[in-house]
Amino acid sequence: MSETESTLRCDLGDFAYGTWRLLDEDTPPSADALADRLRRCLEAGIEVLDTAEIYGRYRVEEAIGSALMTDPELRGAFKIVTKAGIDVPSDEKAHASIPQYDATGANLVRCAEKSLRLLGVDTLDLFLVHRPDWLTHPEDTASGLQRLLDEGKVRHVGVSNYTIHQFATLDKLLDGRLATNQVEFSPLCMDPLYDGVFDQCLQSRVRPMAWSPLGGGSLFSDREGAAQRLRAKLEDLSPKYGDAPIDALVYAWILATPARPMVILGTNKVERVASGMKASGIALEREDWYAIWEAAQGKSVP
Ligand SMILES: NC(=O)c1ccc[n+]([C@@H]2O[C@H](COP(=O)([O-])OP(=O)(O)OC[C@H]3O[C@@H](n4cnc5c(N)ncnc54)[C@H](OP(=O)(O)O)[C@@H]3O)[C@@H](O)[C@H]2O)c1
Repeated sequence: MSETESTLRCDLGDFAYGTWRLLDEDTPPSADALADRLRRCLEAGIEVLDTAEIYGRYRVEEAIGSALMTDPELRGAFKIVTKAGIDVPSDEKAHASIPQYDATGANLVRCAEKSLRLLGVDTLDLFLVHRPDWLTHPEDTASGLQRLLDEGKVRHVGVSNYTIHQFATLDKLLDGRLATNQVEFSPLCMDPLYDGVFDQCLQSRVRPMAWSPLGGGSLFSDREGAAQRLRAKLEDLSPKYGDAPIDALVYAWILATPARPMVILGTNKVERVASGMKASGIALEREDWYAIWEAAQGKSVP
């Protein structure tokens, strides 16, 4: 481990299993089937679960909790990241007639306590404000996060989809305790390379997390444009990297950037988890990293 890595505020590793789409299948997995899938994630080397209060219309945390409860060893094996602060019309959020954000301290504390109960764990490893709430004063948000830290209900706190200024403001109020900014990042969405988010992470010794690393699946489904060019380039490069699957090449591309964003896999097909993890052994050559950039952007670097 390099000196830089050892001084990160929090480092949960290179990969997490994302659970946004967990209940999207026609037949959602039973607790036993999900426990089995989680065991396969562990075998593949993934020890972090990324979830959120809102996933599956407020049902995913409960599903994960039921799976973890089938096997205490499984429950102890995973670190859990969850998020809160999005309210959409539902039985769960009867007050909401339209989608809205709520990052008040009181709501964050209430949500974290509910997550602990649904997931069946004593502590959340990382608790994130899901999206910036323009209506809540950051002091209010900070007070809720601080309370969760003080009470030992969460080990680390962070944010998701925050601008650099929103991050800096909240981080200052928390005396530099924000542990991550979880943002969209992939060859199909390079914003954090340009908007300062990754530079801020490097400066603050914070490891970002990358959501939708495959563009939410558009890398495979789009028949034209950036995704099609990117697929062709990745297929072209694959033999050079031991016939690596193209998703693994994309994860390696993400991990090659200096902030080393943790990659959150989003597949419901567990065999894709194992093949994607081949990224761990791939060190992309500089020229190939830029060739992927070029294919995605459809132009040479300026
Ligand atoms: N903080 C935030 O605001 C935020 C927002 C979005 C997501 N997230 C987190 O990030 C995680 C990952 O996001 P994501 O689900 O959008 O990730 P993604 O990996 O970009 O997209 C996943 C989609 O790609 C498909 N896919 C994956 N590999 C494939 C392959 N080899 N061939 C064809 N299709 C393939 C999957 O289908 P199959 O299931 O069929 O493989 C799935 O529908 C989420 O689960 C969630 O935890 C966070």
